[in-house]
Amino acid sequence: MPRFHLIEFEDQQWFPKNIRNYMTDFLQFVTNQFDLFKGSVPILQKGLEKSGQSQIIDLASGGGGAWLKLIKHLEKSHPNLKVKLTDYYPNHRAFKKIVQQGNGHFDFEKASVNALQVPKNLKGFRTQFLSFHHFKPADAQQILQNAVDNQAVIGIFEAQKRSVAHFIQFFFSPINVLLMTPFIRPFSLGRFLFTYLIPIVPIFVWWDGLVSVLRTYSVAEMEAMTKDLKHGDSFEWEIGEVKNGPVVNLYLLGYPKK
Ligand SMILES: C[S@@+](CC[C@H](N)C(=O)[O-])C[C@H]1O[C@@H](n2cnc3c(N)ncnc32)[C@H](O)[C@@H]1O
Repeated sequence: MPRFHLIEFEDQQWFPKNIRNYMTDFLQFVTNQFDLFKGSVPILQKGLEKSGQSQIIDLASGGGGAWLKLIKHLEKSHPNLKVKLTDYYPNHRAFKKIVQQGNGHFDFEKASVNALQVPKNLKGFRTQFLSFHHFKPADAQQILQNAVDNQAVIGIFEAQKRSVAHFIQFFFSPINVLLMTPFIRPFSLGRFLFTYLIPIVPIFVWWDGLVSVLRTYSVAEMEAMTKDLKHGDSFEWEIGEVKNGPVVNLYLLGYPKK
C-alpha cells in the first residue's frame, strides 16, 4: 500500500483545542483499556537499560497515551522510573490527571516541546507513541537525527500498520467513540455534546484514524530513514514488529553503540 500524507486535523494549529483534547482523551482511554502497547514492554525495558537512566521523556504525549498501563508493567523492573509527558500542544488537564493517578512516576513539561528539536535540558530515554506517522519523512528523519545528535536513546511505537486490514478496522472507529465516551473521565458536557448531539468528535477520529493508517511508515521505510542520518552508524537501530494477541506494534529502537 503506498504512503499518503493527507492532513490529520489534530495536527492543525487552528484546530479547536477542546476537540483535539477529546480526541486524544479517546486515544488515551483505548490504549490503556486494551493495553495496546503491552507487546512493546520488553523494548521499553531494553531502551531504559541502554540509556542507563530511569527517566523517560515522552514526546507528543497527547492525552498521556498508554502510560498509566505501561507504568504498571515497567515499575516492577524500574521502581524509580520517572516519565515526563510533553507535547507541542500540551494538554495540561490530561497531564495533571496522569500525574495524580501515576503513583509518583509522572510529571510534565508545561511549555510546548517540539519533537524535532527537543530542548537540551530534557534528558532521558525519548519515546513516541502513535505519533511518528504524524511527521512527513524529512521531519520524521529529523526526530531521529536530533536523538543521534544528542546521543539520546529513542523508541518509536505505533499500534497500526499501513495495511488494508488496519484500514478496514479503523473504518469502524466512530462506533468505538460512541460506545466508549460515557466511560471517559473526567466527565465533560462538551465531550457529550460534540460526540452525540453534534458528532464532530467521532467524525474527526474516523478521518484522522484512516489517515494515520495511510501515513504509517513500514519497517523498510524506517530502516531507510536511519541509513541517511548523519553519524547514524554510531547508533544501533532495531526496527520491527511485535504481536500481542490481535494487536501489532511497530517499533524502532535506536541507541548509541558502545
Ligand atoms: C495521535 S496524538 C498521540 C498521542 C499519544 N502519544 C498517545 O499515545 O495517545 C499525536 C500528538 O502529536 C502532537 N504533535 C504534533 N506535532 C508535534 C511536534 N512537532 N512535536 C511534538 N508533538 C507534536 C499532537 O499535539 C498530538 O498530541
